[in-house]
Amino acid sequence: MIFLGIETSCDETAAAVVNDGNDQTARIMGQAIASQVDEHRPFGGIVPEVAARSHLQHLDGLITQAMNEAEIGWADLDGVAVTGGPGLIGGVIVGVMAAKSIALVHDLPFVAVNHLEGHALTVRLTDDLPFPYLLLLVSGGHCQLLIVEDVDRYVRLGTTIDDALGEAFDKVAKMLKLGYPGGPPVERAARAGDAARFDLPRPMKGREGCHFSFSGLKTAVKHKVDALGGAPLSEQDTADLCAAFQAAAGDALADRCANAITEFRTRHPQGRDLVVSGGVAANQAIRGRLQEMCATLDMAFTAPPVALCTDNAAMIAWAGLERYRHGLVDGFDFAPRPRWPLDPDAAPAAFAGVKA
Ligand code: KG4
Ligand code: ZN
Repeated sequence: MIFLGIETSCDETAAAVVNDGNDQTARIMGQAIASQVDEHRPFGGIVPEVAARSHLQHLDGLITQAMNEAEIGWADLDGVAVTGGPGLIGGVIVGVMAAKSIALVHDLPFVAVNHLEGHALTVRLTDDLPFPYLLLLVSGGHCQLLIVEDVDRYVRLGTTIDDALGEAFDKVAKMLKLGYPGGPPVERAARAGDAARFDLPRPMKGREGCHFSFSGLKTAVKHKVDALGGAPLSEQDTADLCAAFQAAAGDALADRCANAITEFRTRHPQGRDLVVSGGVAANQAIRGRLQEMCATLDMAFTAPPVALCTDNAAMIAWAGLERYRHGLVDGFDFAPRPRWPLDPDAAPAAFAGVKA
């Protein structure tokens, strides 16, 4: 089967053509992606209105590009999948309307995919990983620990009670005047830094459960910046502070993951895989810290290639395919969802400012 996938929920406009054949390396037949980072950079963050207009402007061309690269026509498609939420609603509407139009005109099944399910199933596109596995999703908008039990079946073990980790990277970079998005420059600066120079908190460490918090860590970094006389700091101070922040974030993640692994094994004694996805999974130091933790707990560590960890349409096409194979198809009355928890039964984290 061949699916077209569309992603417009944040600041990447993307289209991809994916099949579910046995050869993993040949599954992505075509893909095209346009990042809006340059358009949002002057604002130091994503502006929803700018994002929606840009998706509208670029999506058609990207779909054509992906279809051309795949060397197929509309008649070769078996379905159309699109991110139906959660995300910035203006952008989601653009993608959903485009997908509905294509499905309607070409008489194809229409599948609305939860963006988080796209991230969650990517390792099955790349590695055919069997269910169940534990997923750490760390991006600019999300920081969650989920048990992936099956297509459409998730147990959320933890979420952030304030900032997502990518968001904390972005804010730290902003404080240090390193630009936007913040993850890559913080990681680069940290390579030359001494993490031991600054003592920073490991939020939630040692506490029960699997929730995250990064707002206190971010504030602690702000205090260090102020104590050093304000940004821009010297190259060495910047490097040391980035290294200390990254180490604290890595320790906090590892601590929360260790609790989640215990919970995962209680529910699934045979389970042995931890998967990490989302933009922050591109960070080599964070990956290393998690790999180390997995080794001590006898878990296998898997992360999709970086280009498939960050937002893309191949993951949406794939999730659409998997849902379709499960008999999950949507009607043209599907309404885009700004919020859409993967596990609606999860108890809300009982703190202020909680993200779904
Ligand atoms: O998954 P993603 O592309 O978009 C969503 O948020 O859904 O993630 C983007 C986030 C940004 O906050 C960015 O700063 C962070 O991922 N990021 C990184 C790195 N590369 C991207 N964070 C830490 N280290 C990196 N190398
Ligand atoms: Zn994402």
